[in-house]
Amino acid sequence: MIAPSILAADFARLGDEVRAVLAAGADWVHFDVMDNHYVPNLTIGPMVAQALKPHCQKPDASAAVLDVHLMVQPVDALAEAFIKAGADVISFHPEASAHVDRTLQLIKAAGCKAGLVFNPATPLDVLGWVIERLDLVLIMSVNPGFGGQGFIDSALRKLERARRIIDASGRAIRLEIDGGIKTDNIRRAADAGADTFVAGSAIFGQRDYARVIAALRVELAGAV
Ligand code: DX5
Ligand code: ZN
Repeated sequence: MIAPSILAADFARLGDEVRAVLAAGADWVHFDVMDNHYVPNLTIGPMVAQALKPHCQKPDASAAVLDVHLMVQPVDALAEAFIKAGADVISFHPEASAHVDRTLQLIKAAGCKAGLVFNPATPLDVLGWVIERLDLVLIMSVNPGFGGQGFIDSALRKLERARRIIDASGRAIRLEIDGGIKTDNIRRAADAGADTFVAGSAIFGQRDYARVIAALRVELAGAV
């Protein structure tokens, strides 16, 4: 799955940008929420997600997954607001919730898929205690807060470890990589076990979205 991050899109034309990138072959819409508290940046809230939801349509008229990445603290109230706004997946950073298991239960009880996001220095230990509540594990290959940063290579080792944990669980859990993904490193992320790829500046920084998404898929086709 290719999930363009709208953080790198033209914020004056978000609806058009979402339609354009889905028409260009993207699978998911990655919606980066920043509160200027958990991360030193401020982006968009539930009202914008609600406004964008009708635009999250693929060319075959099927709905594209609205993949909401909460870089916020606390988490619970905003998670509930984004669920109401139409989020299909909500992922949050375990450091940002005082009660990770309870926050996961809250998201699942509302019928939304739930994920945990691991910063470059955050270990995967919490997975051992909540994996049965997860639909997604998101590995950060940059420090959260900004697009256009350089890929942190240690994320590849963490992907391999997360892949082993997910496979051992026998559960249908997606493994997503987020940050600095380009045509020249996406194959290494896939080889390390990722199956869902966030790309912001790599896609929205180009004029021809279809061309760069196709190039990313060519790289993925070559992954082992
Ligand atoms: C960073 C966000 C990422 C970022 C990816 O905090 O979580 O989704 O927008 O952007 P690029 O692909 O430009 O690193
Ligand atoms: Zn993100």
